[in-house]
Amino acid sequence: MAGRSSRKRSVYTCQDCGQSASRWLGRCPGCGEWNSMVEELQPATSRGKATVKSAAAAAESTVLLGEVAGPGIEGRLVSGSGEIDRVLGGGLVPASAVLLGGDPGIGKSTLALQLASALSAKGACVLYVAGEEAPAQVRLRADRLARAGSDKLLVLPETDAAAVIEVMRKKRPAVAVIDSIQTLYSGEVESAPGSVSQLRETCAQVVAAARELECAVIFIGHVTREGTIAGPRVLEHMVDTVLYFEGDSNHAFRILRAVKNRFGAANEIGVFEMAADGLREVPNPSLLLSGGAREGVSGSSISSCMEGSRPVLVEIQALVSPGSVGSVRRTTLGVDHNRVAMLAAVMEKRLGLSMASHDIFVNTAGGVRLDDPGVDLAVMASLASSLLDVTLPAATVVLGEVGLTGEVRAVSRLHARVKEAARLGFKRAVVPAANSDRLDDLDDLELLRCKGVADAWRLLSG
Ligand code: TYD
Ligand code: MG
Repeated sequence: MAGRSSRKRSVYTCQDCGQSASRWLGRCPGCGEWNSMVEELQPATSRGKATVKSAAAAAESTVLLGEVAGPGIEGRLVSGSGEIDRVLGGGLVPASAVLLGGDPGIGKSTLALQLASALSAKGACVLYVAGEEAPAQVRLRADRLARAGSDKLLVLPETDAAAVIEVMRKKRPAVAVIDSIQTLYSGEVESAPGSVSQLRETCAQVVAAARELECAVIFIGHVTREGTIAGPRVLEHMVDTVLYFEGDSNHAFRILRAVKNRFGAANEIGVFEMAADGLREVPNPSLLLSGGAREGVSGSSISSCMEGSRPVLVEIQALVSPGSVGSVRRTTLGVDHNRVAMLAAVMEKRLGLSMASHDIFVNTAGGVRLDDPGVDLAVMASLASSLLDVTLPAATVVLGEVGLTGEVRAVSRLHARVKEAARLGFKRAVVPAANSDRLDDLDDLELLRCKGVADAWRLLSG
């Protein structure tokens, strides 16, 4: 019996989403990724260990919620970088675990090093575990960034999780950065560093130690397309906060997005620009994302969308041109492909515009991803403007969700959205009549209310 419990079991785990199966599969049943299942050895778990003793101990450790001291906003580690602090929900919470994911080369190490330097400049002891680079390389980047506080960072070139925890015990840092979680390994797991089992095990070990030592940890995780290294998605449930650093490598700006946050609003974003001396904050993203719009050209409109708690103005461009029969193209960047197809169908039916035989391309400025349905009407306005080659009125922002029957539905937080447009000097806003918000402090901004898409188009083209 003893031999049986120590026997290793072979499982196949998807390196993308962590789904496991008892046999190899060409396609992961969890996320649908091809060729991502990799064989891993798992020690057979010994079940039934939960004894009466541990149950009694658990009963003893129950506490009254009213007596628990929560991590207040006062206790947070504030870096002074407004964008990062806001995305974290008002600063880094002590003893919390943060996952910072993103494509390789997007700027995760840069962001983490800037945050680490800023915190260390404020007097916090910060440990930077460099699993990917030698200390000299970290130094090179720090010199390039030239941020105050980087001299006092403790850099540890180490990939063994046990050794990292040992150093955390000795040095007692307030913050530890693990760059990256994919390079860390634990001798207790047999699979290769970067596999799902290693990622889960090392992350769990470091999180447990960090909680005990009251150290906040930031794990950097590469989003990977190949099946050989596991992606950070498999760790999302083990940490308190999940941030993704997004952007197009052809554009200078980057978006830090909170997709999960136990200590703040999810979906909050911070906008940065990659410059020669590191990431610069963009405190006024509306200007960046809508400022490039040229007046007097067709196929462009501006909407105001909610990104977390903040309204941001974004330019939406469309190009509609006659396609070859039988093979029309529908290409979108930043807006959902299916949503655009739906909007084109509504236009065909409700505005009598012939879209079916046309190629359709839709882009948002800089490729920024918009999930907000409040931009529907602006997408439609850009499409109609391009199809008919009609320029839309200048200094006008377009807002509204479009339903299948062509009705323009109310949008959330209309007041905040319109106010942002007014702040940037917009003169008119096309808004849903269904929104009954009181909008009376909008200085010079004129509101044009519409019930349906035909109404809206009359207002915009007339
Ligand atoms: P890096 O932080 O190393 O990316 P990651 O850790 O996500 O893989 O940054 C990668 C890119 O950023 C690299 O191509 C160079 C560029 N970069 C700058 O443009 N300016 C800078 O100051 C720094 C440090 C990097
Ligand atoms: Mg890096």
